[in-house]
Order: sequence, then structure tokens, then C-alpha cells
Amino acid sequence: MCGIVAYTGNRDAYPVILKGLKRLEYRGYDSAGVALVNHGLKTFKKRGKVGALEESLLGKDLQAVAGIGHTRWATHGEPSDRNAHPHRSSNGKLAMVHNGIIENYSLLKQDLLKKGYAFESDTDTEVLLKFIEDIHVSHEVSLEEAVRIALKRVVGAYVIVLLNEDDPETLIAARKGSPLVIGIGKGEHFLASDASPIIEYTKEVVYINDYEVAIVRPDELILKNLGNERVTPHITQLDMELAAIEKGGFDHFMLKEIFDQPQSIFDCLRGRLDANMGSIRMGGVDKHLDQLVNAKRILIIACGTSWHAGLVAEYVFEELCRIPVEVEYASEFRYRNPVINEGDVIIAISQSGETADTLVAIERAKENKAFIFGVVNVVGSSISRQSHAGAYTHAGPEIGVASTKAFTAQLVVLNMIALKIAYTKRTIDQHRYLHLINELNEIPDKVALILQDTDHIKILADKYKDARDFLYLGRGYNFPIALEGALKLKEISYIHAEGYPAAEMKHGPIALVEESLPVVFVATKDMYHDKILSNAQEIKARKGKVIAVISEGDSQFQEVADDVMMVPLSDELVAPLLSVIPLQLLAYFIGVSKGLDVDKPRNLAKSVTVE
Ligand code: F6R
Repeated sequence: MCGIVAYTGNRDAYPVILKGLKRLEYRGYDSAGVALVNHGLKTFKKRGKVGALEESLLGKDLQAVAGIGHTRWATHGEPSDRNAHPHRSSNGKLAMVHNGIIENYSLLKQDLLKKGYAFESDTDTEVLLKFIEDIHVSHEVSLEEAVRIALKRVVGAYVIVLLNEDDPETLIAARKGSPLVIGIGKGEHFLASDASPIIEYTKEVVYINDYEVAIVRPDELILKNLGNERVTPHITQLDMELAAIEKGGFDHFMLKEIFDQPQSIFDCLRGRLDANMGSIRMGGVDKHLDQLVNAKRILIIACGTSWHAGLVAEYVFEELCRIPVEVEYASEFRYRNPVINEGDVIIAISQSGETADTLVAIERAKENKAFIFGVVNVVGSSISRQSHAGAYTHAGPEIGVASTKAFTAQLVVLNMIALKIAYTKRTIDQHRYLHLINELNEIPDKVALILQDTDHIKILADKYKDARDFLYLGRGYNFPIALEGALKLKEISYIHAEGYPAAEMKHGPIALVEESLPVVFVATKDMYHDKILSNAQEIKARKGKVIAVISEGDSQFQEVADDVMMVPLSDELVAPLLSVIPLQLLAYFIGVSKGLDVDKPRNLAKSVTVE
């Protein structure tokens, strides 16, 4: 949430920052700004996307030795030029960008107002900057020291980067709870909220930890803790290629990422699942297998789409491993007083690895001595580092705001973990184990088959794009897919959609059914097939429109449905990996046919680093 880019070094800073902001725009896009220093400090800010800022700066002299940039997802204060970052200090010498929320900003602001400070924006960021300025000026301490003193009094989450007119080549950055990566070049440093703005310049990076302050100059990177002690920077190599964060000929990242899925699922399986040997090897699981196999209960915490992956996992784990599973929204878990017992295992699922609610939920669980297993996509992210053990999903960078390939990779990882536990516990026999390994192994090819012909889904999208509401229904393993299909549609097309267990329909939602209501059934062949078919007939009897995701060759459902989207036949346990694909495409094509910006839907941000 909010993207930060900063640069100091021998290149011209503005083009580096602008390009970086475009890469980070998925994190927030209601306004953008840059502060540049050369002979004096200049700030430029604009409501709207990064392109609007770029346009407003055409023809201006933007030569700079260092600079900071920001693309915003509003928390305090409406999206506007005035609330856009960077903010300036009262004396005009400092500029600062911030990602996160300062919870005690109101108290700090009252003190500052009493001291005569005036505020130009409604943001907590300006308050923090002026608090730092006040310490710097009135206590006559260095800016670095002022930052440390200020941050000891701040409650909340932040990444900040400061630019100082009096020390133009030095950037001061700090983090707590929000991510910051520093790229190390020759005579230059790059700072960013994630590695995507950095990857084309260097692969050597340092991930800043909570409560660390970085003093960054072209030739020097000094890390200190808030107690002013030096911390040794831990340099890691980025395992990512530039092509992975570009659109590669697709109109949108979302479409590219949907089409990435045969490869991303394959990458997730690669080196882990060996269908010939009938084995699954996963470092993080193997090392902690005892803990997982002997779990008395598994508690899954996640948000949004990742929570839907957790719901599928609940069905899979209970079926295969006979371990009780509970799935909870991280945002609820963190504020409850959940009962966590010895022997409970927490699985935290997150694409970004930075979701604030999930991170804090992990902290709460750790306070209760729980064992945390992370299922995370972004390597080196906060959740991966906060977990005791884990498995990466290896889906590659996901840039489209609506999660697609990260979801299927999460399902694959969770399936493999369940199979591994179940086989070790002997809660499934070898025949079923080998059968499911084969089924998983075939998923990349089956997804590729679905993606071979998407024209009929485009036609469906045109047919139904003007519907006011959609209902998505599924049973068993496909119930969470109904929720996921509805979420995708809401996010991308702004059409109201609800997901429900198909049998629950008659307890309320059936009242909504009328001729103009499309009802999407997620009805691949499984043990509930006859039941869900009856549910579809109930909708038809009330003149609703039935659209169905079905298994190839399902003539029964075809007779009832107005429109169908077919997927290859598979075991019901892995069917969600296939049934979700047409729903991702349907949401995408509806969004596009309505002329919406599907990669950057309104009000959303990719990585939700505020609560
Ligand atoms: C939906 C979507 C969100 C995320 C949620 C959790 O398309 O992307 O619902 O799934 O914000 O994010 P992560 O997985 O990064 O923790």
C-alpha cells in the first residue's frame, strides 16, 4: 500500500524514480509526487495516476542528484494534490515520503500546533515530518538522530524516506511494519517498497528490518537500530528477471498473470513433486514434518483471496489428514482473544507477505507460542521472515491488483503439504496418494487447455456485462471458488456479486432470483454433482440465468444451463485449480468490456500494509 522509490547516485534521479513509480503503481494510485534535490529542493505532486504527474512535469528542469517519489493509496486525507506525498518541512529544507499509518498522529499534531507549526495537508505524514523537524531544529541534533528520537515516540506502521536540502546526496530511511528494499549499485543506491523498480539496475539488495534506520549515500549504506548501534547489512541476491515484471505483449498484467498459470503452477511443483517417483519434497515441510503431522489443530489465517485458498485447504486437510482445521480472517483473529493450544499449527497465507493484518495476527499467535508456517509468494517478505517455517509459492511477481496466479499457486502448495502429512500419517493409502500426485502433476497441462480457447468466455462477458448483480454458487471444494469468483468480479467490474454455498441459497439468497440475475454455478464433477444440479434447476424454475463451470462431457448440466464454461475432468480435490480459471477470465473480460482499468481497480491496492 503506497509505493516509495528513492535514488542517490551518479545518474539523473528523476527518470529512475519515475520508472520506479510506474512499476509500483499497483500499490496505490490516487496521487503521486516526487521531491528532487540539486541546487535546492523542489517538490511536485499531482492527484491521479503516475502518468498525470509525468505529464504535468513535461518540459520542466528536473535534473537532480537525488530524489524521492511516492504513489499513494489514501489513508489520512482524501486523494488530492495537497495530500499527495512528498510532504515538506516548515523550513522547506526537508521532504519526506511515507507508507503506513501513524496512529498517534493526532496527539503529536496538537503538540506541534501549540508550538506554532502550521499544516498544509490532512495527512499523518506531514505530522511525522514536522515532528522530526521540530526535534532536529529545536534540539539541535542531526537529522539522523532526530529520526531515531521521533520514531521511538511513534505508534503505528511506517516506511519513511527523507531528503535534505542541506545534505543533498544523503537519504535517511526507516521502517516498522512496512517493507523497504535497498538496491546496491556502483556509486549509487536505490530504495523501493519492493524490488521491481530496482531489478533492472542491480540484483544485490538489503531488506531493512523493523526499527532500523538507513543512512544512504551514493557510496555508502549505514544501518543502525533506534539505539544508534550499527547493524551489519545482510546482502541478498534477487532471484527475479526483468521480464517477469513486464506485460510481455498482453493488454493487462491481470491477463498475463492468468495466462502465466500453466507455468507458475509448474514452477510451484518443480523440484517438489515427482510423479515418477511418487514423492513430494518440500524443504520447509520436511524439516518440520513432526510438528505438522502431530498438529492437534491447524489454524489458517489470511485475508481476501488468500483466505479463500485457506478455505479450500480446510476441506483438503480435513479430508486427507483428519486434522481439525479452522480458517480465520487475519483481521478478526488479531483483535480476538483466540484460544491457541500446544500442538496447534498456524498456517499464514499471503501473496505479498506484507499484509498488515496477517502480520499482526502472526505476532499475536507467536505471543501464544504457536508454531507459524508461512505460505508466501514474495521471497524475503515480512511474513516469510516472521514465520518459523514455510513454503514459497513461486508464482513469480504478481502485479495485477486482483490476485490470480498467486491463488492457484497457494492451492498447489497447500495440496502438497496436505498430501505429505496425510501420507506420513497414513490417513490416506498409497493408491490415493499416488493418484492425487498424478492429478496435481497434470494441472499445468489442463490449465493450458482451458486457456487455449477463451473466446466463448469473452462472448459471455459481453452478454452479461450489464447485469446489476451476480450470484456465485458452489458446494464442497468449489464453495470457496464461488466466493473467489464473486470477489474477482466485484474487484474488476464493480458489479455487485455474492458467493454462497449452493445449498444455502434456499435460506435467503433465492429471494434475489429473477430473470435478470445471472447465477454462476461452480459445478465440476464431484460427489455433490446431483445436488448442485438440483440447485441449478431451482434457479431455472424461478427464471434466473444459469451460467455454469462444468467438467467436459457433463451433458446433464449443459441441458439445464443457459451458458457453460468447460474445464477438463479431474479429481474433485484438485478441481478448484481448474474451476477458478474461467471465473478469473469472466471477471477480466467483463471489466475490460466495461472499459475499466482492470489492473488498477478503484480504491484497491495490491499490498495492504495498513490495517
Ligand atoms: C483479491 C486480492 C486481495 C488479497 C488480500 C491479501 O484479488 O488480491 O483480496 O488476496 O489483500 O493479500 P496477501 O495475499 O498479499 O496477503
